[in-house]
Amino acid sequence: MTQDELKQAVARAAIEHVPAGIIGVGTGSTANYFIDELAKIKGRIDGAVASSEATAQRLKSHGIPVLDLNSAGELAVYVDGADEITKHMHMIKGGGGALTREKIVAACSKKFVCIADGSKLVGMLGNFPLPVEVVPMAQSYVARELVKLGGQPMLRQGFTTDNGNIILDVHGLKIMNPVELETQINQITGVVTNGLFARRPADVLLLGTSEGVRTLQ
Ligand code: 5RP
Repeated sequence: MTQDELKQAVARAAIEHVPAGIIGVGTGSTANYFIDELAKIKGRIDGAVASSEATAQRLKSHGIPVLDLNSAGELAVYVDGADEITKHMHMIKGGGGALTREKIVAACSKKFVCIADGSKLVGMLGNFPLPVEVVPMAQSYVARELVKLGGQPMLRQGFTTDNGNIILDVHGLKIMNPVELETQINQITGVVTNGLFARRPADVLLLGTSEGVRTLQ
């Protein structure tokens, strides 16, 4: 199976985790496949909260109502992909640059269902450069602080987040303690958030493999 077929398989499997009501929807190619599956059962839900402008557009294009998080209250479930995930359900996210809104919607959700093809499961996080969303005027200061933490930050060229900020992709980190590093990076002044999802990990991982979809929880 190709990587895209594995992403489609986990997107289909995630539909079993969709209750009636309002759900949270992530960003990226795997989340896009999920939106396409969600469209087939859209009558069962009241609508969705989007983690990015791109996801909002795709939901709307399928006729799925997009709702404001502030009026939605607590969500039963959030479905999203990941760039890397461990068996402890800690993730690196933000390859698509939507990490801040993804983290907000995940925080508001009782259950986080991560959908990923098998290549995303890793023993240790950090091979994928860690995205950090930064207020533009703090770019150099934050970069210097990230170097002190052992990383090599690189500006994501030509990219502005939905919140009007920049992304520094931090290379070369070997992340032994994701909860601690997530907290440390978030404490740097000028950082909006970072792509470690360890303090609020996934609850369920649907992993696409050539033998079928594995469920880890
Ligand atoms: C976007 C994300 C995505 O979930 C992550 O980049 C995985 O993307 P894809 O499903 O395209 O592999 O965090 O900000």
